[in-house]
Amino acid sequence: MAYYEHDVDVMIDEGAIQSRVRELGAQISRDYAGRDLTLVGVLKGSIFFLADLARAIDLPVRIELMGVSSYLDRHESSGEVRITHDVSTPMGGRHLLLVEDIVDTGLTMQFLLDNLQARQPASLKVCVLIEKPTRARCKVALDYRGFVIEDRFVVGYGLDHAEKYRNLPFVGAIRERDLQPHAKIGQNSD
Ligand code: IMP
Ligand code: MG
Repeated sequence: MAYYEHDVDVMIDEGAIQSRVRELGAQISRDYAGRDLTLVGVLKGSIFFLADLARAIDLPVRIELMGVSSYLDRHESSGEVRITHDVSTPMGGRHLLLVEDIVDTGLTMQFLLDNLQARQPASLKVCVLIEKPTRARCKVALDYRGFVIEDRFVVGYGLDHAEKYRNLPFVGAIRERDLQPHAKIGQNSD
């Protein structure tokens, strides 16, 4: 029995993720044909999505990474976001596509968009693997979106619970009894 089977219910299986990522890659390839595209992945949650998406895009993309940590209050972002790792080259004049794992309240995404917009890119769009629309507290336009899910805490394919489960090849929901109280309040390194 695999280690996660007691605590995690599969919600989006590996095959569904891979075929959706290929569709997103094809769409992005068409939309950015002839332009110089930079993917800006958000650490740590987007790393598997970023790696698969980049390989599904048929263009010579550049890859940059930003790290953020959001302060949580009972599993919910407080909107207070701190940059823990910045991109390594100037973003001015570039076509940027921000690649994020999940949009919940939208506050982290809003912070990142404001931060990148201030660097005067040629364009700035968003590609998110998962949207949880029921909890959205601010309106962020999601240009590319993999899946929309109900409001459950999910893990896998980069997403963590107290830094665990990121390496699952699928997205699953943690059973409520397994949600650790100490992880509900504190700092989340995204
Ligand atoms: P926000 O509420 O949209 O600002 O989301 C903040 C961050 O919390 C996201 O970038 C994720 O790193 C994390 N997060 C939100 N919902 C989930 C979830 O269901 N599972 C794991 N991480 C999540
Ligand atoms: Mg994140």
